[in-house]
Amino acid sequence: MTTLRYAGSLRFCLALAVLGLAAARSPAQIRLRIDTSHEGPRINPSMWGVFFEDINFGADGGLYAEMVKNRSFEFPNPLMGWSVELARNASGEVTVRNEDPFHPENPHYLELRSALGAVSVINEGFHGMGVKRGQKYDFSVRVRRAGPGTRDLTVEIIAPEGAVLAKGRITGLSPRWTLHKETLTPNATHPKAKLRLTLAGEGGAQVDMVSLFPRDTWKNRPVGLRADMVQMLADLSPGFVRFPGGCIVEGRYLTNRYRWKTTIGPIECRKLIINRWNDEFKHRPAPDYYQSFGLGFFEFFQLCEDIGAEPMPILNCGMACQFNSGELAPMDQLDPYIQDALDLIEFANGPSTSAWGAKRAAMGHPAPFKMKMLGIGNEQWGPQYIERYAAFARVLKAAHPEITLIASAGPAPADDRFKFAWEKLRPLNAEIIDEHCYAAPKWFFDNATRYDQYDRSGPKVFMGEYAAQSVAIARPENRNTLECALAEAAYMTGLERNADVVRLASYAPLFGHLDGWQWTPNLIWCDDLSVYGTPSYYVQKLFSRNRGDVVLPVEGATQEINSPGAKLFLSAARDDRKAEIILKVVNPGPAPVAIAVEFTGAARIGRTGEATVLSGSPADENSLQEPRRVAPARERIETGQKMNYQLKPHSMTVLRVPAK
Ligand code: AHR
Repeated sequence: MTTLRYAGSLRFCLALAVLGLAAARSPAQIRLRIDTSHEGPRINPSMWGVFFEDINFGADGGLYAEMVKNRSFEFPNPLMGWSVELARNASGEVTVRNEDPFHPENPHYLELRSALGAVSVINEGFHGMGVKRGQKYDFSVRVRRAGPGTRDLTVEIIAPEGAVLAKGRITGLSPRWTLHKETLTPNATHPKAKLRLTLAGEGGAQVDMVSLFPRDTWKNRPVGLRADMVQMLADLSPGFVRFPGGCIVEGRYLTNRYRWKTTIGPIECRKLIINRWNDEFKHRPAPDYYQSFGLGFFEFFQLCEDIGAEPMPILNCGMACQFNSGELAPMDQLDPYIQDALDLIEFANGPSTSAWGAKRAAMGHPAPFKMKMLGIGNEQWGPQYIERYAAFARVLKAAHPEITLIASAGPAPADDRFKFAWEKLRPLNAEIIDEHCYAAPKWFFDNATRYDQYDRSGPKVFMGEYAAQSVAIARPENRNTLECALAEAAYMTGLERNADVVRLASYAPLFGHLDGWQWTPNLIWCDDLSVYGTPSYYVQKLFSRNRGDVVLPVEGATQEINSPGAKLFLSAARDDRKAEIILKVVNPGPAPVAIAVEFTGAARIGRTGEATVLSGSPADENSLQEPRRVAPARERIETGQKMNYQLKPHSMTVLRVPAK
């Protein structure tokens, strides 16, 4: 037996490389010693967060529960998502108009004219509309009567083949724009329903902001977010939410960059723009992908508050996406971008008597959102980024020293762009640097010790985007396998052990719609009716729900185990509130591994604890049909000053051991 001391007793890093001999022997035992009196770095309470971007129909058609696509006819093709239906022998027409609109930021609306019979418009929804039997759906529309005759409109939820699932009537049309509402209750569940609006008899009506929401939204907020999807986030207990992107912050060109100010206030004032993922991947085109901003900055802040996460907005720094145009705002024209940042801080944190704080209050939240972090640019690189970051930092740190700024290290974890960023950001006293990594599972296993040797004196690290790619970066064949999840888990043990350097981390991307994704893998998948977490989701959950307050050193021992070249990856922490020691161990190999853990130091170890285990075959995945094929299972275990436990093959295990 050889005893190893890991990463100098100061950093307590540990990646147990265990070279094994031949297979088919009883599991060998790995000896581990955890010093309960020797405290390592304190773990940031907000360490494990989530990163939300409107990619893969994550917002419109996803988290934002609106079911009508192109509800205000502002797509470049105003009838995209809509079809026109004329009853047999009917005569009528549908036109797109813009005179005297309901709101100038939403200039287009639809006019239905019927001379005889009935004319209908049908909305196909985002990949259909998922409706549930007996649930209530809130329909609303702005209507203006166009000429004499017309008295009412019919609204129906229909199945694609025409069966009526729910029906309502909009009556008393006025010659002025008026808001009408109707509750619809489908008589059957359907994953791909549609919405039909019909004008019968002789007359005309103009319609705008045609909308359908489930009544069952997150916290039952009208026109809110999908409850099941937010619940998945809440279940992670995320320490922060990074939003709204991602490349979406940058836009292909600066004209299409994300501007937070256009995403607040009444929804009809929020000006729609193209989603930059609309035409990014030729193999996954999404011509109907736009941003309505129904989920805007106010809703993001509110979501963070709801789920107890720190808000981490990311702002455009005067650079369009460098994978696209790379368009730059000239340095002498950067002021409006910096002003946007100052105004955002006031919107989030200012008193309701301030100009931007008043807008927050008008939206129903007089109290500040207590934002503490702000990202300057998304995934930028090069000298142009450094000078823009420096200009932002100069102004923002002078005006708001209380806000921690996050800088970018570019799109890769170790290339020249990355090295250049660190070299230049260090002397600028950057506080936190955002590192991104999409790589093969092997990279994550190999880099579990990446931060053991990081400079402790410089900027801290935010691992802002990472995910193991089963095939290659952003390839459509990528799968959310258990192997990928275990690779991420192994890497995360290294993030946790180095919690003095790595302060924050988030997987990316967060959501993918099964019928509308552009990028895979994703943490959580949904269709219009359901949602499920991937094995990676459960790894994130195991870390964030078993965070611990302070890292504890572990000494380990190598021994022969059954599988050649097998490794364990682990980290230990103490949960002060629960008075427990948390040991996370990843055994990616195909053989079970027995561990013998000895606790030294002052703590008195209790006799029963808990093990939570995520395991399966490396290629295992979850799906709508089998959402928990790979999911953690819990069991009571015997614990003690010296205890034994057997790790399953291909597993991540969290042991919670009482320690007073
Ligand atoms: O997460 C998907 C994309 O990957 C993000 O938008 C971008 O920041 C990164 O390149």
